[in-house]
Amino acid sequence: MLGQKILTLDLGTSSIRAALSFQKGDKHQFFIKTAPSRGIKNGNIINLASAREALSSALNGLKLEAPMALPNEAYVLVPGGCTLGYQVEASIEFPGIKTISHNDVNVVKNKAKDELLRIKGQTVKSYYEVIHVVPQEFIVDSVDGIQNPIGRSGRKLTMKAFIVLASRSHVKTLEDLLKELNLKLKGVVLQSYASSFGIRAQNSYFNNNLLLYMGAGNTEFMYFREDKPVLSKHLPFGSEDILEFLIKKLKVSRTEAERLYNEYGGAYAFNVNKEEVIHINYGSKTLKAPKILIAALVHLKLKEVFKDIKSMLDEEDPGFVENLSGVLLTGGLSKLKDIDTLAEKIFKAPAMVPPLSHPEVSDVSLSPIVGVTDYITSLSDKKKLSDIKEDLTKSYEKDGGFFATIWRFITDII
Ligand SMILES: Nc1ncnc2c1ncn2[C@@H]1O[C@H](COP(=O)(O)OP(=O)(O)OP(=O)(O)O)[C@@H](O)[C@H]1O
Ligand SMILES: [Mg+2]
Repeated sequence: MLGQKILTLDLGTSSIRAALSFQKGDKHQFFIKTAPSRGIKNGNIINLASAREALSSALNGLKLEAPMALPNEAYVLVPGGCTLGYQVEASIEFPGIKTISHNDVNVVKNKAKDELLRIKGQTVKSYYEVIHVVPQEFIVDSVDGIQNPIGRSGRKLTMKAFIVLASRSHVKTLEDLLKELNLKLKGVVLQSYASSFGIRAQNSYFNNNLLLYMGAGNTEFMYFREDKPVLSKHLPFGSEDILEFLIKKLKVSRTEAERLYNEYGGAYAFNVNKEEVIHINYGSKTLKAPKILIAALVHLKLKEVFKDIKSMLDEEDPGFVENLSGVLLTGGLSKLKDIDTLAEKIFKAPAMVPPLSHPEVSDVSLSPIVGVTDYITSLSDKKKLSDIKEDLTKSYEKDGGFFATIWRFITDII
């Protein structure tokens, strides 16, 4: 039996990708088609016609390759630059002891959303819409750390959550773009949040971990505590900016900068042999230069970005860097040689580029695409509420029954 078909679109700075996934047995199968990106800058659609053409070419390629018809609705990744992320807390009290229902969760969630929009003011309310409500924990009376409170009893229900908002105009543009291709926008997923699913191994638990998605035009980072996001930020930086830096500093053509980056680029110049000499092409002329020069320029640029990220983290909460237990790098730029070494030096914590959650897809620049499928799958997990942007339905109460209630009571008291 084949499970739910998921169509995911990624409008990236370097590539536009269309992916179909479906469950077969206990595994997901992926069909992914890529087209060179056009009409997109730092994740923003700046030319609708070009973006449509590029997306249409990726979709047509996918239609030919996929073993079944594509769904007529799609999930689309949104870049961090179009979003805002906040931590919120809301509580509701009951007149007496009450068994918590899906409706109570909806009430506390809507209260948190309203409260956030009230605090942030009219501008945020008019220009942004909620795309994720990720519960960090529920607290029922004095019991904290609850992943799903439905079926528990208490007088007071508190929810701590991380809420992500996306620019209304960006979502509207995506809707219009998809409409022109006869597709419906089923949902949007923040790129860094999607990639956090895309790099999860089974039973992984992100605690004091910094996830760093680095693409061609976007650097997005998310800090996780107790396996839940607590901070999400963005810098308009990617491999395109490194190329521009090489062009400016070496005064070479774009093609030559790309060649030098691909052949000699590295994030940690101290790992390059100081004696080695390379040739840099200037039209008909060629100049000799030490190989370390290319890595030194790339190193310099990335060091600046990592330091900026560190300051942004420190500004929010000095505990983020102090307690950092690991940096998880993903996205196309994470394939750059020695980027983990540089991250370790700057953040003073172990850094790695984890493999994707589905080993049949090996390219780490596809972590957001692969992650959307895992994110969608996580939405039906009733043990752990992973995103309650939409109101929960009664089906969430079926889980459990009498013995589950007793078991919860026992786990509460031991
Ligand atoms: N082996 C590699 N070494 C260094 N850089 C690489 C390597 N492979 C890919 N890249 C860089 O990664 C970039 C693509 O990354 P990715 O596909 O994640 O970006 P994107 O999704 O198109 O852009 P964004 O999400 O930033 O809008 C390429 O432009 C390239 O410069
Ligand atoms: Mg991307």
